[in-house]
Amino acid sequence: MRPDFEDILINFKKDVEGVKDIKSFKELRDKYLSKEKGIIPNLMKKIKQIPREEKPEYGKDVNLLKGQITNFLNDLEKKIELVELERKSQSERIDISLPGIDFFVGSFHPVKIVEKEICNIFERMGYFIAEGPEVENDFNNFEALNFPDDHPARDAQDTFFVSEDRYYLLRTHTSPVQIRTMKRYGAPIKIIAPGKVFRRDTPDPTHSPIFHQIEGLVVDKNITMADLKGTLEKFARECFSADTKIRLRPSFFPFVEPGAEVDISCIFCKGKGCRICKNSGWIEILGAGMVHPAVFEKCGIDSEKYSGFAFGLGVDRITILKYGIPDIRLFFENDVRFLEQF
Ligand code: PHE
Repeated sequence: MRPDFEDILINFKKDVEGVKDIKSFKELRDKYLSKEKGIIPNLMKKIKQIPREEKPEYGKDVNLLKGQITNFLNDLEKKIELVELERKSQSERIDISLPGIDFFVGSFHPVKIVEKEICNIFERMGYFIAEGPEVENDFNNFEALNFPDDHPARDAQDTFFVSEDRYYLLRTHTSPVQIRTMKRYGAPIKIIAPGKVFRRDTPDPTHSPIFHQIEGLVVDKNITMADLKGTLEKFARECFSADTKIRLRPSFFPFVEPGAEVDISCIFCKGKGCRICKNSGWIEILGAGMVHPAVFEKCGIDSEKYSGFAFGLGVDRITILKYGIPDIRLFFENDVRFLEQF
């Protein structure tokens, strides 16, 4: 090979040492092979100026030089690609020892958990779920439920009214759902109605102006107090424990006759007497009774043909008992540290 070509080859090999990545490789390849400015193509263009007798020798040597450089560059390109790949996989490697991204998982409110549990117990006994609005009218909340005009619950002291004429109000119990279902469907009926209720109460550990009830209503032929008692006994055993007893104490609600307050045997001391049951051995959880004939009349159901029972239980109260919660206000403070424990 011509000595000047030998020099080009030596310089080329020196240049190769400076190649570290794809970018510098491409610069090197352009320097030697690019059509416009590349060293080799320039040598080929020069052949015109070479004296005729030297042309064959010159051409042969250029081709030799070009072949060597091209082969070398092809091998080098493969090596550089491997190096690049290795570098990329190193820099993009996943560090499996890093902690993952934590997602916040929500949970049901404790009152909702217990509400669902109670509804499930009654659904298994063949009850349907009914609903009513939180803003009610006087007829459904009071009048049809046989509340006399001068009943204290109808006083602004006890009820949140939402219209000047006191016809619309925030329902004070879930019993208006009894009226809505009886008027809409007639007899027979077997429903439970869960929901929020509102009373003007100053919040303290056992009182809240918002709380939750589940209403029950069964209307059919020959429904007696024995059905009511059996149903509530079954409910208490399912909801608390198989050895839970119930007790009915005579009480008054204008929409039932007879009416009763229902206690369960204390789930903490099993009836022996403790701080929670105030040494009585019993804990009150609901109000109940046989549907008053006057209520049936208001709803267009024949009280000679049909009878029924109703009950209303306090869900917050039961949740407090089940989970040992010290203060009803915790249910409404929306403190995640409290809520995420359920
Ligand atoms: N509605 C009554 C209350 O809120 C409870 C109740 C319901 C009593 C059904 C008897 C029958 O106190």
